[in-house]
Amino acid sequence: MQLAKLKEQVKQQQLPNHIAIIMDGNGRWAKKHKFKRIMGHKKGVETVRKIVEISGEIGLKYLTLYAFSTENWRRSKTEVDYLLKLIIETLDKEIDELVEKNVVIKFIGTDKGLSHSYRDKIESTSQKSWHNDGLHLNVAMNYGGRRELVEAVQKIGRKVKSGEIEAADIDEKLISAHLYTANMPDPDLLIRTSGEYRLSNFLIWQSAYAELWFTPVLWPDFTQKHFLEAIWDFQNRERRFGAR
Ligand code: FPP
Repeated sequence: MQLAKLKEQVKQQQLPNHIAIIMDGNGRWAKKHKFKRIMGHKKGVETVRKIVEISGEIGLKYLTLYAFSTENWRRSKTEVDYLLKLIIETLDKEIDELVEKNVVIKFIGTDKGLSHSYRDKIESTSQKSWHNDGLHLNVAMNYGGRRELVEAVQKIGRKVKSGEIEAADIDEKLISAHLYTANMPDPDLLIRTSGEYRLSNFLIWQSAYAELWFTPVLWPDFTQKHFLEAIWDFQNRERRFGAR
């Protein structure tokens, strides 16, 4: 089906509230084209651009992209340095257009391991978009689902200790409210590219009821059409949340 037609079709049905994407396969894409790994990430940013663009066009409310995991520090220094620089440079380059397009940018992840100047820079740049109310674009940066839960438990533990809350007050809602994604809907569709079938520590609490959509397509080759196909597939699934 043509892109324009698919887009109209998708817009006529209820959209997912929140789509989360594990953008995988940049390295393999580079290898396939006999480039250095970092070229895969560079090309991957072009896909990010296209997916953010179409998300805004169809009126999606939340999009979360897994850009850098707490496990990614184990890669070579060259690759880590390149990725950190690429993320901040992309943000810098795109911020004005994103602000103009009514996008709200938020970085989710742990501060641990990132320099103060890096954290300040992503915070101050993304702040420029915080008055907007269109697409909420979350960039998962230095993100790990288990780390997020540890930090939430620490925050809750401090509140119990100070008497602000009691242990008996701890429920699912309270835990959700202490995650990086507090006040956001849980992802209802999670996409992973490159033919891997894992969550890789991504939004593990929030994705409890998410529909999963996997494709063998490598992230740099992932198109707006693939994205709409995933949404169309989601719209045609029956979701029961444990009920019959
Ligand atoms: C996974 O591919 C991809 C990453 C670890 C990085 C993705 C980051 C970007 C595309 C930049 C995003 C920038 C912004 C501003 C959102 P891989 O290297 O694990 O691929 P492989 O499994 O084929 O080796």
